[in-house]
Amino acid sequence: MKKRTFLTAAALSAAALAAAPAMAQDNTFKIGLILPMTGQQATTGRQIEAAARLYMAQNGDTVAGKKIQLIVKDDTSLPDTTRRLAQELVVNDKVNVLAGFGITPSALATAPIATQSKTPMVVMAAATSSITQASPYIVRTSFTLPQVSVALADWAPKNGIKTVVTLVSDYGPGIDAEKFFKDRLTFNGGQVTDALRVPLRNPDFAPFLQKVRDNKPDALFVFVPSGAGAAVMKQFLERGLDKAGIRLIATGDVTDDDQLNDMGDGALGVVTSHHYSAAHPSAMNKKFVEAFSKANKGLRPNFMAVGGYDGMRVIYEALKTSKGQGGGDALLAAMKGQLFESPRGKIFIDAQTRDIVQDVYLRKVEKKDGQLYNVEFDVIKDVKDPGKAK
Ligand code: DHB
Repeated sequence: MKKRTFLTAAALSAAALAAAPAMAQDNTFKIGLILPMTGQQATTGRQIEAAARLYMAQNGDTVAGKKIQLIVKDDTSLPDTTRRLAQELVVNDKVNVLAGFGITPSALATAPIATQSKTPMVVMAAATSSITQASPYIVRTSFTLPQVSVALADWAPKNGIKTVVTLVSDYGPGIDAEKFFKDRLTFNGGQVTDALRVPLRNPDFAPFLQKVRDNKPDALFVFVPSGAGAAVMKQFLERGLDKAGIRLIATGDVTDDDQLNDMGDGALGVVTSHHYSAAHPSAMNKKFVEAFSKANKGLRPNFMAVGGYDGMRVIYEALKTSKGQGGGDALLAAMKGQLFESPRGKIFIDAQTRDIVQDVYLRKVEKKDGQLYNVEFDVIKDVKDPGKAK
């Protein structure tokens, strides 16, 4: 019997992955963009795909003599599907870069494929701190929950908030937000009086909000992923938590620009911390918001869109710097250390951690020209992911 027969399926697929990049050779440069285009996280996919296409429309589809081909795949936010699609994109389509990743489990499921095939993997959405440690081929253009949560825990006690109940989605980013918010608030002399976790899939916030009402903290701190914020806001108001004197504070995932304008005046005054607001007052952002909206029937870009737009920038520049030569390692090297102006402000890909360093803003929901926006009122410059400060 030939030796090959004894190879397990896993070893076979590992061999296929390792061989894949060497075979990729023609004048196209392929980006495999895996996103949740349907299901609970569909707005993330819609925003990122639209932003990637906008970047290409503005910057052309030929870079360093290569024609850029974007291959979009819908993983419906199921990590097993993400992994299968990534494997197919690497082995069959011979993509040069993997990108997207709407939720943390999808990014973590794909990390070993990036490592084995030496394919750079640009995480444009998922935001658990540890993701960049799952593969040396991962580069992140989104954010991390520790990065954005700490600013709010500094702001709260200076603004009359001493006791807080935390309410987070029960998975990676939520657990990061809960821990880093609590540690910092406690350090600042405040107190987390209860820590509640809701399921990621089909969450029912009502029973948790009732517990918060009974607990009567000064504020409720919330993290839920993009797309779930409007439901939290609605039930917070319906249960009369605001009338009971409980303030709502959150990461900007809750007052998501994709949904904010439909949340109604009940959202006015909610203070959040985050890395991007469609109302960010820079010339570059004004142009970005206008162009995005024009290309997408009036849709307002959210923080997912900016992660996708900047991710495309990182890929384009890496291709330019490596002059279209070399494989995944050359591309990866050229992604590390990129420093540029994004619609969110100045950003930097830390060469050591491959994670994003960026400004974090405190914002308040206000009405401007009849529309609800997250209006920035303070900034913490150049914030590294505190989840990695060891
Ligand atoms: C993640 C997903 C989100 O939609 C978000 O707003 C933050 C984090 C995640 O799964 O990592």
